[in-house]
Order: sequence, then C-alpha cells, then structure tokens
Amino acid sequence: MAKGFIKNCWWWTRPVKITVIWLICAASFYSFFHMALRNSPRPTISEGSSISNAEKRSILYTKMEKDLDENGAVFLKQGETSQSLSLSDLFTLKDGTVTPVLRAANPPIRANVLHLSSEYSVPISTKVLIEIPSWALHFFPLAEAVKNILLPYFDKAIWFQNSSIYHFSMFHASHHISPVPATEAEVEAEASAVKASAESMCPLSIALDRVVLTSTGVLLGCWQVVSGTDPVTIRAKLKTALPRAPQKQLYDDTMLHTSFARLLGPPKKFSEEENKFSGLQIFHELVNRVNNQIRGLKAMVSELWYVEEYDLLALALNGKMKIRKFQMRCSKP
Ligand SMILES: *[C@@H]1O[C@H](CO)[C@@H](O)[C@H](O)[C@H]1NC(C)=O
Repeated sequence: MAKGFIKNCWWWTRPVKITVIWLICAASFYSFFHMALRNSPRPTISEGSSISNAEKRSILYTKMEKDLDENGAVFLKQGETSQSLSLSDLFTLKDGTVTPVLRAANPPIRANVLHLSSEYSVPISTKVLIEIPSWALHFFPLAEAVKNILLPYFDKAIWFQNSSIYHFSMFHASHHISPVPATEAEVEAEASAVKASAESMCPLSIALDRVVLTSTGVLLGCWQVVSGTDPVTIRAKLKTALPRAPQKQLYDDTMLHTSFARLLGPPKKFSEEENKFSGLQIFHELVNRVNNQIRGLKAMVSELWYVEEYDLLALALNGKMKIRKFQMRCSKP
C-alpha cells in the first residue's frame, strides 16, 4: 500500500513538477518578452511622426558640428565645398585681396533659396547687447559679429558671404551635378510655379541654433524654426512645383543653414595666451566666440527667391545671376 502510494505519489508529482517548470518557463518567457517589447523601438509606422523635424535638425547639426574633429581641417590642404567644388578653385589672391574665381555655369544653375531678412531681434540673454555697438544692431549684428571676431585672425585668408544675400538653399531646379537644361519659356514656367508655391507658404520666424565650422572651412549658421512653414514642407512643395528637377538634391530635407564665411587658410594672429591652443583648438575657440555673440538670434524669412546663377556658386561668390523674389503670403501655418 505504502509502496503503491509512494509509487502513485511519484507518478502524481512528476506531472506537477513538469507543470510547475513549464509555468516558470512560460512566466519568465512572458516577462522577458514584455521587457523586450518595451525596450524595442516603436514600430516603424509611427517612427516618422515620433521624431519632429526640429529634433531631426538638431541631430543633423550635432553631426555637422563633429565634422571638423572627425575629418580635420581639410581646407588647410585642399578642401571641397558641400557642393563638391574644390575651394582652391574658387579663390585667388590678387594684389593681396581674395578674389573669387568665377566660372560660367552651363546651363545656368536654377536655385530656390529663402532670403534671410535683415530684420533681427537680438537675444537678451547673451552679451550681444553690450558688445555690438547700437548702430550695428540696426542693420547687421550677424555679419558684424562674424567679421569682428574672425577678420583679425584670418586677414586675407577668409571670404565673407555678402550679407545682403544671406540665404538658405532649399531646392534646385537644376544644379551642376545633374544639369537640367531649360528654354526661356521653361524658365518662366518654373518661376511662375515657384511664385504660386511661395504664396501658399507662411513666413518663418527662426532662431540661430548654433554656428558650426565644417571640415571644408565653411562657417555655417544652423537655424531652428520657431513658426511658419517648415523647410521639409517647403522642399516638398517645390518638388511638386518643379517636376523636372534633379531627383538627387544637395541638402538634407530638414536643413536650414546659411553660410557666413569661408576660411581659406590657417589663422595668423596669435596672442601669447592663444599660442597654447594646439591643432583644431583654435578653430573651436573662435567658433565658440562667434556662438557666444550670436547664438539665439531671431530673424524673419518672408521671401523665396528663384535664382538663375550664371556662374558656379554665384550666390556665394557675388557672381552673375538673375534673382526673382516672391513673397511668402499664407496667413496661418
Ligand atoms: C552684395 O549684394 C548686393 C545685392 O546683390 C550687391 O548690390 C552688392 O554689390 C554686393 N556686394 C559686394 C561687395 O559684392
């Protein structure tokens, strides 16, 4: 009997043991599975909308900020611009002044850019109010600050972007990498399409997120949108308006950048203290100084320009061009 009980018990407990083990396994599997679910990224469907354009811009700018450290000061050798033209091809030193080397673009480049208005509001929190004379505030705190800080160091080895055509590249109807020839009538049709498109866009209020120096020596202002039509939407509208445009465009869809200056060589003037800086440190120091002065600056954008550039990089180098200016007219975003 006892033997039978033990035997029965053994037979009884074995399935129980197995069940218990299974339950433990199932429970731990379930909880691990849940943890994995919670830790895994959200499904891709919602991913696009879960990162805002502002966050994407911020991530992009951080990446651009690292470019100088990752690739070194390529412009001290022979840099290429973001449009893959070599910088040494772009300038010569003529009678001690930096002169752009203009090269005809054939067919002309057709660029759509936003124009940075010269109406600014100056951030209260920074030192700008004290350090920039009041007369300068009325027209160009930005250009003045950049010039005041950099000119003493670079003298001839710097090219400043013409501040009355500070601009943000949005979308090319034709660029030098994939030229799209157009007749005069086709150019007129493109311009009309861009004008109609601009009318559905809202003027932007923007703020300077940061200034970065690329490894190719271009000092860029990287901006965030406070209100108005996002650059992603502007580019999408222009793409629809210009169906013949090159499929491959030159810039990230979220990017809102304007170039302030191009460095063409090493800095010249060093004080005793500055001689401590080694390698790239001096560039970081100078970029920091620019940032301390103008970061946070607010500005307005209310014009979209359709620009025919008859010279390569005409907007950047004061080349020959024809600008058509269109107002952004929407009243509500
Ligand atoms: C800057 O651009 C404006 C407008 O296109 C032009 O009138 C002016 O001559 C340019 N300045 C220089 C120094 O080229």
